[in-house]
Amino acid sequence: MTKAMSIAAKTKQIVKKHGGDKSGMIAVLQDIQEAFNYLPKEALKTAAKAMNVPFSRVYEAATFYTAFSLKPRGKNVVKICMGTACHVRGAAVLQDKFERTLGIKPGETTKDKKFSLETVNCVGACALGPVVVINADYHGQVTMKKIDKIIDNINKEGA
Ligand code: FES
Repeated sequence: MTKAMSIAAKTKQIVKKHGGDKSGMIAVLQDIQEAFNYLPKEALKTAAKAMNVPFSRVYEAATFYTAFSLKPRGKNVVKICMGTACHVRGAAVLQDKFERTLGIKPGETTKDKKFSLETVNCVGACALGPVVVINADYHGQVTMKKIDKIIDNINKEGA
């Protein structure tokens, strides 16, 4: 089975799970992103066809929400909160540290596809600021030391 076929097959399965029409479009996009870690164009095309809507409509929804990514992302997505509460607690310094440690800027992915770096707006955990979300895990009161530890742990797990 080619990669394109497997993307299409998985996408069709996801569309079916959400009722097979456009009413489940956002849930479909969320599941596609969960399956592939981003929204492959092939999946968007397949989903549009399966939901019987124009590709432009699906593409519009995919680009409207910042939570969706149209570019392939690394296995571990690091999101640095840049909301006001985190910003005043040094989020920019943390961003700089992540950039130097990983060798990438926000919006980029490391060559080994292990990490992607992103900046996001308030993730709703201001009291814990500065906050960094890695995949589904929230890390609060993040310090430079903590960043080294977090990255070391991920590398050790071979994740
Ligand atoms: S500003 Fe970072 S969690 Fe609210």
